[in-house]
Amino acid sequence: MNPFQETTERLRRVSQAHVLVGAENLEAPALSRFLNQINSLPLEELAGMLTQTSSQKSRDLSLLSPPNVIRQDAASSMEFRAVGEQMIRRGQVAAFTVAGGQGTRLGWRGPKGTYPATVVTGKPLFRVFAEQILASERRYSVRIPWFIMTSPQNDADTRAFFADNNYFGRQKQEHVFIPQGIVPCTDADGNILLSGAGEIATNPDGHGGAIRALHSSGALQEMSARGITQLSYFQVDNPLVRVIDPIFLGAHVGAPGSSGEMSSKCVSKRNAAEKVGVLCNIPTEAGSRTTVIEYSDLPTAMAHQRDAAGELAFGAANIAVHVISVEFAMRLAASNDIQLPWHRAHKKVPCLDATGVLTHPEKPNAYKFECFIFDALPLARCSITLQTSRMEEFAPIKNAEGEDSPASSHRIQSDRNGAWLESVGVIIPRRADGSVDAKIEIGPLAALEANDLRNRSTIGSIRRGEEFVI
Ligand code: UTP
Repeated sequence: MNPFQETTERLRRVSQAHVLVGAENLEAPALSRFLNQINSLPLEELAGMLTQTSSQKSRDLSLLSPPNVIRQDAASSMEFRAVGEQMIRRGQVAAFTVAGGQGTRLGWRGPKGTYPATVVTGKPLFRVFAEQILASERRYSVRIPWFIMTSPQNDADTRAFFADNNYFGRQKQEHVFIPQGIVPCTDADGNILLSGAGEIATNPDGHGGAIRALHSSGALQEMSARGITQLSYFQVDNPLVRVIDPIFLGAHVGAPGSSGEMSSKCVSKRNAAEKVGVLCNIPTEAGSRTTVIEYSDLPTAMAHQRDAAGELAFGAANIAVHVISVEFAMRLAASNDIQLPWHRAHKKVPCLDATGVLTHPEKPNAYKFECFIFDALPLARCSITLQTSRMEEFAPIKNAEGEDSPASSHRIQSDRNGAWLESVGVIIPRRADGSVDAKIEIGPLAALEANDLRNRSTIGSIRRGEEFVI
């Protein structure tokens, strides 16, 4: 059989033979690209994805309880920091960014990590993270490898951006780019959609594709051979994330009750209605496990429930910052758990209609399938959640405007940077609502935390509306 016949046969076996109708009219190179694309897709998994996501049983959410949140105090922070710093110095920690998303809400033309994110100089997100890693490498006299999950769609652009920027002053060999898997989009009946003649409509398989991508690329083996035991996992869209946080790393391995497999950071929900997933505990056959409940699934009464201290009982907002042990990832990779549950979302996907004409739907017409990394949490025996401050560590850029936009991120960045300078005696202008009335940027090479600014009190004061950079 030739490749065309083989692919036809494979599609027929999974009841998707319509994909190749008319393909014989394609020029040879286009046909060959099309066959390669089809054969790179997990077609045999599609039926399972469809049944799993359409028959997903809702969990009994009445059994949820608040998670084991660790609140930082001076004594425990010092203890955790010592443990974490030792791991970093020993070269046991790698950074891991998931950067394979499509970033459709932001609408930026390139990979999201190339987006100019900082308040005054507009440093791209990748540079912000690179400088943090570089500062940590200098502080702890160690090389810190950086694993970056891309998608087949943005891998080449991402690599080119790093090369064009000379790896932001870091060693080229300390960067590992790992393209994640992709999956086809389907219509409501499960038929694969075409985005053009000779091209299937696809999307990356979600940040939950990370474990499989780390495994199949050989990255987990590489880490293990190099003595790396912990991955500092973060998303590409948060310029305030602490890329290498000794306190979180120390809590992950050293906090009472942690199995050191997978830990999370959380911030307090702003209010009961905030649209953010929350960390909770849920009983399972294996005992109580940590999980994330999406805002749309959390019953309203539970979202408003308060604890004895008057705080939201289910108020531990997930900010998608985790530490994942390499051993835990390897255990998942060696079992069926490498495939985290599929979720499907109803979206607008431009595609060819039955007559072969490209349509741009006005209403959702297609299903996209994705896995979420937080679905690995219940697979960890005892997972801890470290509470942190939203202003200190969370200023995501997801939307072009409004909440979680560049504008809202800039305000939080200036508030955090102003607070850092204030803590060493600099006078900062504030508005009536308490926010900082200046644009203040602090580069990671100048300070990784407020304490690094203790020699900067000579700055004196910052003027209202001033643009200030160190
Ligand atoms: P989001 O859920 O914000 O999705 O990703 P997105 O694709 O970036 O943006 P929209 O929804 O299209 O606007 C959260 C993080 O997970 C990564 C993203 O790059 C981001 O760091 N991600 C998401 C992946 O690495 N792969 C995916 O398939 C999806």
